Amino acid sequence: MTHDFDKAYWEQKHQDESHASESTGTGETPPHPYLATEIAGLTPGTALDAGCGTGAEAVWLAANGWQVTGADISDTALARATARADAAGFTDALDWVLADLTAWEPERTFELVTSSYAHPNIPQLDFYEHIARWVAPGGTLLIIGHLHDDAAGHGHGHGTEPAAHEHGGHGENPPAEATVTLADIRQRLASAGWIIETAEEHDRTLTSPGGRAVSLRDVVVRARRA
Ligand SMILES: C[S@@+](CC[C@H](N)C(=O)[O-])C[C@H]1O[C@@H](n2cnc3c(N)ncnc32)[C@H](O)[C@@H]1O
Repeated sequence: MTHDFDKAYWEQKHQDESHASESTGTGETPPHPYLATEIAGLTPGTALDAGCGTGAEAVWLAANGWQVTGADISDTALARATARADAAGFTDALDWVLADLTAWEPERTFELVTSSYAHPNIPQLDFYEHIARWVAPGGTLLIIGHLHDDAAGHGHGHGTEPAAHEHGGHGENPPAEATVTLADIRQRLASAGWIIETAEEHDRTLTSPGGRAVSLRDVVVRARRA
């Protein structure tokens, strides 16, 4: 099944997730684990979370000394992100931008641009190239992406239960156009002069709002602008 990954799709997905979260009492998701490992060696500065969703990573960055801009196409996601930041006491360290990142242009560059599982209505590698332009010289780009079963050559599945609450959760495998391989990202970034500092695949398992284990295969790429 394929989707048109437009604003209506993401708005509906976030509304569904909000309802699921409320009905199960699951609460907000924690940040994905790669921020802590990949950002550890960086001096905090300005950061953009491109497709920040409900703000887990943006608030984590703010809590760790970054001045963060979280941008997303969904009003519902940003409302939850704002509430999360306020509850955590990091309101002043965060700006929220409601924007279609394929059309928006920031007025500044950032020392860190990160994006986790965001897949808009343009080809995935073009999206990464697009947001990479917003990294300041010497700055870092951190990409967390989906690896599709077919691309990975693995049999892991996302299952049929809507795994809507967790990072990257989809009710089905992410469609091929939303997935990326390490080789593809590396090639695209390296050919543009980026210094690749991390390029890894990781499997992890999350618990869905319904309590079912959901497997994810992630690609993690950290690159530095020369
Ligand atoms: C699978 S969710 C991931 C959210 C969050 N980064 C995380 O790791 O949990 C993808 C996010 O990208 C956002 N998004 C998709 N297309 C977008 C676009 N064109 N501009 C801005 N945000 C977009 C969606 O609204 C959604 O919040």
